[in-house]
Amino acid sequence: MELLSKQSKQAFEEAIRYIPGGVNSPVRSFKSIGRSPLFFEKASGSVLTDVDGNDYIDMCNSWGVTLLGHAHPEVTEAVIARVQKGTTFGAPTPEETLLAKKVIDMVPAIDMVRFVSSGTEAVMSAVRVARGFTGRTLLVKFDGCYHGHADHLLVDAGSGVAETGEHLTPGVPREFAQCTVSLPFNDPKAVKALFETRGEEIAAVIVEPVPANMGVVPAGSGFLQLLRDLTTQYGALLIFDEVITGFRMSRGGAGQYFGITPDLVTLGKIIGGGFPVGAFGGRRDVMEVLAPLGPVYQAGTLSGNPVAMEAGYHTLRLLDQPGVYEDLARKAESFLGKLRAIVDRYPVTLNSVGPMFTLFFHKKNPTNFEEVKGCDFENFAWFYRSLLKEGVYFSPSQYEANFVNVAHTEHQLRLVLIGVQRALSYVYGYVDNM
Ligand SMILES: Cc1ncc(COP(=O)(O)O)c(C=O)c1O
Repeated sequence: MELLSKQSKQAFEEAIRYIPGGVNSPVRSFKSIGRSPLFFEKASGSVLTDVDGNDYIDMCNSWGVTLLGHAHPEVTEAVIARVQKGTTFGAPTPEETLLAKKVIDMVPAIDMVRFVSSGTEAVMSAVRVARGFTGRTLLVKFDGCYHGHADHLLVDAGSGVAETGEHLTPGVPREFAQCTVSLPFNDPKAVKALFETRGEEIAAVIVEPVPANMGVVPAGSGFLQLLRDLTTQYGALLIFDEVITGFRMSRGGAGQYFGITPDLVTLGKIIGGGFPVGAFGGRRDVMEVLAPLGPVYQAGTLSGNPVAMEAGYHTLRLLDQPGVYEDLARKAESFLGKLRAIVDRYPVTLNSVGPMFTLFFHKKNPTNFEEVKGCDFENFAWFYRSLLKEGVYFSPSQYEANFVNVAHTEHQLRLVLIGVQRALSYVYGYVDNM
């Protein structure tokens, strides 16, 4: 089947004249896929429709936002009602407290929370709080983890930054980068060695508890606990960046899933119900350093925007109904078991944790960023283009995660399996014939 993308191509040709690269976020550009991006018209549940009228089963979920599926009727209705009453006041609204109470109720590590407008802002602010609280500067992160595009966090980062192949993006002063140390993921020796030499300088360790921005790469046994133990021992803070894992790995996110309590948690994506929301929260004594209570300044004109708060609240309320996480876990397990059986016949591996997964074009399951870099990116791109023709929309990069969501039906997931099987046999036809 050929994919008819005439309207998408035209839309892209026009966009490129006005917007750098035609996109407002580089990973959308399909650069590593070897074709121009699709432009979308609408989405409902787990089906995306592009401007040419092609439908796709959505496994990208707007990079992890739409855990409930697109345009959930109850969220949409609540948002419309809120919009009609005014969209911003630059002053507090009860919706902010409503969502704050819900977040605190769901996430065990959070005693207090503050809302911002993106995951980047959430991480940037949490790091500032950690530095303000500890009076220290050094931030420790891990190669291939992505924590948004704030200056200090772009060192050896994953996601779209990984595609640039650069250690540090131009525009970030080297002096800033010196405030961050990036270590190999899943390397306990490297972490211990750094704490032994510079432990008293470390303000915080930040980690994606399930890294998803170098593709899904699970933490090895005991690795997250080691981070908890060392940060406690040396008086540094542990930040779980749960922008992707929050409200997904469990009701209380990855911290609850793994039974580890960080000092600070950053949130984004799901929490905004499709609107631009991020949040950071954690220990009360740490959060109380924030202005106007304490000296650490942080602010935002549209922070806690009432429309976004309403969408976030109803999203979390719906996710928090009895059985939702249990059903999602069962559905994901069954789907991923079948997917594994398919990919096992090819030189491709599946990494998954809960409902998050990546197919790596690599013979061995990657355990860190260096190993992910050894993937066959050409075959990934070929697979991806073939998969689009099968009507399945994965995240368009080898360095990203895909998601089973609450709205996926068994039938849709079966179509995804068929699509993956066909796309793989197209790329590796010779394997089938052997
Ligand atoms: C783990 C993680 N942290 C932070 C961010 C940044 O969030 P945003 O793109 O909303 O700024 C992302 C974005 O993908 C992310 O995956």
